[in-house]
Amino acid sequence: MRLHTVPRLAEAGQSHLLQFWNDLSPEEQVDLTHDLQGMDFKEISGFFKNAMETSGSSKHEKMDARMEPVPREVLGSVTRDRESLKDWELVGLQCVSQSKVAALLLAGGQGTRLGVSYPKGMYDVGLPSHKTLFQIQAERILKLQQLAEQKHKIKCCIPWYIMTSGRTMESTKDFFSQHNYFGLDKNNIIFFQQGMLPAMDYNGKIILENKGKLSMAPDGNGGLYRALGNQGIMDDMERRGIEFIHVYCVDNILVKVADPAFVGFCVQKGADCGAKVVEKTNPTEAVGVVCKVDGRYQVVEYSEITLATAEKRSADGRLMFNAGNVANHFFSFSFLRDVVQKYEPKLQHHVAQKKIPYVDTQGQLIKPDKPNGIKMEKFVFDIFQFAKTFVVYEVLREDEFSPLKNADSQDGKDTPTTARHALMSLHHRWVLNAGGHFIDENGRRVPAIPRDGAAGSVTDDGNRNLKDGTDLPIKCEISPLVSYGGEGLEELVKGREFQPTLMIDEHGVHELVKNGV
Ligand code: UD1
Repeated sequence: MRLHTVPRLAEAGQSHLLQFWNDLSPEEQVDLTHDLQGMDFKEISGFFKNAMETSGSSKHEKMDARMEPVPREVLGSVTRDRESLKDWELVGLQCVSQSKVAALLLAGGQGTRLGVSYPKGMYDVGLPSHKTLFQIQAERILKLQQLAEQKHKIKCCIPWYIMTSGRTMESTKDFFSQHNYFGLDKNNIIFFQQGMLPAMDYNGKIILENKGKLSMAPDGNGGLYRALGNQGIMDDMERRGIEFIHVYCVDNILVKVADPAFVGFCVQKGADCGAKVVEKTNPTEAVGVVCKVDGRYQVVEYSEITLATAEKRSADGRLMFNAGNVANHFFSFSFLRDVVQKYEPKLQHHVAQKKIPYVDTQGQLIKPDKPNGIKMEKFVFDIFQFAKTFVVYEVLREDEFSPLKNADSQDGKDTPTTARHALMSLHHRWVLNAGGHFIDENGRRVPAIPRDGAAGSVTDDGNRNLKDGTDLPIKCEISPLVSYGGEGLEELVKGREFQPTLMIDEHGVHELVKNGV
């Protein structure tokens, strides 16, 4: 151990990190020294103190009293403002065509709840095509570029910034390279890495996950802002002339990447910051709510709202705090630059109490069965408070939001099955809206809206099954390379009848069952 590290550790109250020094191999000693030297203990202990002071249940109760719902005047809605939707889309598409719009993917999470060891974007939810979340998103970007180019007769590009963490960087990059960047130009996909922070016990001691290794975790999706600054990403955006950025999370299979309607709405309102929401209808659903606290916009996270507030209802019977955050945000470049340069240090870490595996003083690995420490995370939406013009854009859940959070289980929420069904059900509706029809194995038309018990003849591939009360969607998948948001399908499906499984991709229209595939 280099001499100057030892007193630095003692001063920071972290000398226990060296308790197994003599048991370590020379290589392990080198690694540990390297990790410790790269660590700013003063800063970390400051984060810990602040985070502990501002967390705690009494704080949440106090916050409840200061919460107000989003006022109608900042709200745009795809249903209530239907007449404006086309205009917003046109404005957004024009911005895309001028290469002013970038997509920014938050993909640094560890996917703990899903229980896979690889990045979530590499997950295949079992669609007929077996496309992964990364591929679906890449193809939506390609298609949107194409739509903007066709409309404006000009070549354009949507740069795709992908934030990973120490744990996901290599595998993410390898995956993209193995798949030839899914047809996108590799120069327009920019990977960057967020920071990590150590897990700590309740006394502020850093936890060892084994004798020679600190327990480290990504610093939350709000780690974005620090990473944007220290990895030259803002400079890259400036060089490319980016003016608007769509930031989104990796896990929503229905995400409209760089959504022109959302971008156009925000641009037309002159907003520097915007959030996409769906109506929250269940008080205990695990989504944050966009609202005002002390007059400033904020997301109150599902882990931080009290049940009493989550259950409050307005006079019309809807939840009072019903602007459910779908983790799709709009930022103007200048706002983002201000955040990175000025506001980032003001963002507080949130505290998550976790069961963190650790080595005890005997060097035994212990897997605790109740929380024994904390992880500190910044949240991406904590910068809403700095916006000068903040807007909220409400969309339909069934069209735009089906996140993949958990592994499959009976009645599971936000699982591979629910994500797959949501996508197929959306694509089924696209076909119907474009004038196509579905027939069952007896050649009878399947009604668009199943009648109780009637429509659900059970087919071998399980397309509809009302026997047990579950209504499985028609198996239908449309490649994003064919349609970004349901457009352009008439010439392929109008007046035609299809037997599921129906797949429409860049090679044409395929009925997989009919053809014995
Ligand atoms: C998130 C939102 C929540 C919203 C919900 C909708 C945050 C903090 N919370 O909750 O308000 O209602 O999605 O699905 O945004 N990530 C990183 N780095 C990290 C941690 C996470 O990049 O250090 C990324 C993940 O890869 C993922 C996204 O952030 O793409 C969301 O992370 P996750 O932990 O799944 O958020 P939720 O708790 O589900």
